[in-house]
Amino acid sequence: MLAGNSIGKEFVVTSFGESHGKIVGVTIDGCPAGLPLTEADVQAEVDRRIPKQPKIVSERIEKDKVQILSGVFNGFTTGAPITMTVENKDVDSSDYEAMKDLPRPGHADYTARTKYGGFNDYRGGGRFSGRITIAFIMAGAVAKKLLNQVGVDVFAYTKAIGNVKLTKSLSYEEVRSRRYESSVRCPDLACAKKMEEAIVAARKEGDSIGGIIEIIAANVPVGVGEPLFDALDADIAKTLFTIPAVKGVEFGAGFKSAKLKGSENNDAFQMVGGSVGTLTNNHGGVLGGISSGMPIVVRIALKPTPSIAKEQQTVALSTMENATLRVVGRHDPCVVPKAVPAAESAVAITLADHMIRAGFIPKVLKEQE
Ligand SMILES: Cc1cc2nc3c(=O)[nH]c(=O)nc-3n(C[C@H](O)[C@H](O)[C@H](O)COP(=O)(O)O)c2cc1C
Repeated sequence: MLAGNSIGKEFVVTSFGESHGKIVGVTIDGCPAGLPLTEADVQAEVDRRIPKQPKIVSERIEKDKVQILSGVFNGFTTGAPITMTVENKDVDSSDYEAMKDLPRPGHADYTARTKYGGFNDYRGGGRFSGRITIAFIMAGAVAKKLLNQVGVDVFAYTKAIGNVKLTKSLSYEEVRSRRYESSVRCPDLACAKKMEEAIVAARKEGDSIGGIIEIIAANVPVGVGEPLFDALDADIAKTLFTIPAVKGVEFGAGFKSAKLKGSENNDAFQMVGGSVGTLTNNHGGVLGGISSGMPIVVRIALKPTPSIAKEQQTVALSTMENATLRVVGRHDPCVVPKAVPAAESAVAITLADHMIRAGFIPKVLKEQE
């Protein structure tokens, strides 16, 4: 019933599972053969999802043990579909029975119930839970390994939480190596502390808070992307928008470029070590839907978590009368820290797909003797 759970043309990622069902999982069809892959590789990425600081995340802490069920033989991908799952073990659906009739403002309860005639699995948000991003992270782990084979590196970090913004200028190497050191996934630890405080303060008020994640893809060659409808930026934006709570996507100077003059916004070309580069990167690494060879720089805006303890207005769907609701249960006061590896994965999945399509990644990576 829920068509639309697959993305990609050559590296096709299909997500399945619900928040309080048996498992969440993913199948990748079209992964090139010959990529070394173990459960530990994927587990390392999944383990990055839950920050260590318990005050800034939901009390639901799952072990999330990755299982690779198919598509890997003798430590290498075979070219066959790769299916990976994690079980849902720490499930408590009791709070959702009471809320069944009272859709949470800002969540997908009302739209999903209306669209699927009440048959949707509403427990824990069902298919609309942030937990579904584990599927992305598992597929992203494979995509990132694939991209590493051709020297492409994708990494994301938290740029802002509420009004706390990372202003310090850090090198890509600093961002890459320090992004998971803090629980909020901000590479500047002083700023990370303020972000953490902002999340804790919102939670204390029975409220929630949003933020901004920046994703960088370094060393992407010139020529990745298929204009028109499969433009690289369009496809990256689409994949990023599938992460629940993402409400905005911008590349390079993004919305700020609307205020600039052409002379300010254009990135002048220059020769860098024998190849063409640009002096600035307002275009964010994509021109005309095709990668320019400059780093791809994309930011996403995530809204504050819909489920909050404060009283809100809603409608009792059984009686169609106005009602009020205080959401109880286990919720993230801010979705941003957990969304960082998902955002990184979303970009990696799309880049892997496009790099296979454009012939930068071969269908067989290494001949087996
Ligand atoms: C990693 C992650 C964790 C999330 N955790 C929660 C949560 O605990 N409670 C909640 O109400 N929403 C949470 N969300 C957000 C909802 O899933 C999302 O807002 C909802 O499905 C509606 O979709 P939309 O905001 O994209 O329109 C989370 C999102 C992500 C990415």
